Amino acid sequence: MTATTATATTAATTAETTAKTVPGARPVLTVTDLSIVNDYGDVLVHDSSFTLARGERLGIVGESGSGKSLTLKAIVGILPSSLHTTGDMTYVEPVTKADAAMIFQEPATSLNPTMRVGRFVAKTWQMHHPQDSWDACRAHAIDLMGKVGIADAKDKMNVWPFELSGGLRQRIMIAAALAAEPAILFCDEPTTALDVRVQAQILKLLKDIAKRDNLSLIFVSHDLAVISEICDQVIVMQYGRIVEQGSTQDIIHHPQQEYTKKLLDADLDYRMRHMGDDGAAKDGGASC
Ligand SMILES: Nc1ncnc2c1ncn2[C@@H]1O[C@H](COP(=O)(O)OP(=O)(O)OP(=O)(O)O)[C@@H](O)[C@H]1O
Ligand SMILES: [Mg+2]
Repeated sequence: MTATTATATTAATTAETTAKTVPGARPVLTVTDLSIVNDYGDVLVHDSSFTLARGERLGIVGESGSGKSLTLKAIVGILPSSLHTTGDMTYVEPVTKADAAMIFQEPATSLNPTMRVGRFVAKTWQMHHPQDSWDACRAHAIDLMGKVGIADAKDKMNVWPFELSGGLRQRIMIAAALAAEPAILFCDEPTTALDVRVQAQILKLLKDIAKRDNLSLIFVSHDLAVISEICDQVIVMQYGRIVEQGSTQDIIHHPQQEYTKKLLDADLDYRMRHMGDDGAAKDGGASC
């Protein structure tokens, strides 16, 4: 199979007609027949098509290896050079690829260990607002760190990443992502490395921010219960294919595919083993 590089262009397309998910909302991104292949011609993602509307929170769920991260990386444009795409990914004007930001699973590996966290957020602001003075960048960093729920943000500016809990590190990553003032936020399992209680706090934070700023969100997780906390729409992937998509409520209450039912059962099993009767995590966990 010959693979060509897919285009990630900006265009006012007729895709508005396909924005079925949020009534009346404009699409910000359309993905059409996206396939991803490796150098040997193995197809890792097959003909994915979906639309993301302004203010929509779209989940991508599936077991490990189902192609969730590759789909996201292809859209953001950070696939390794050994992988190739066909199909089309179009950011719809006035949104461009530059209006997208991404948060990854493990904040410890995304943060520079030798840079104080406040400087990291201020630098990210400066990158997107080169006209601002350094004092203004620092002031915006403090403001953003406050917005993501970091108490005494001014003092926390000066700490090193290793001094923070996983939840606080992820809040720093979210603050840095918001420094780009994105229209679309891509999240690849941003809470998977956190314990259940901190995970719930970060999910609530992301949902509140997305609602407040009318952000479009694509949220990848292997956990349908997590997706249901934050997303109104969901895509279910298996072996690189979309096997089911629709509103989260429909998919959870009326799954059509055996695979989706298995994902739901697996989530339930996990929660029975890790949560108390009151729904709180059995193993507690660090405050976030
Ligand atoms: N750089 C790469 N080169 C070749 N194959 C890859 C590469 N990255 C991922 N793959 C393969 O592509 C498939 C999909 O990978 P992907 O990372 O998208 O899975 P995922 O759904 O995100 O899984 P997980 O839940 O474990 O993160 C897997 O079979 C994986 O081994
Ligand atoms: Mg992944």
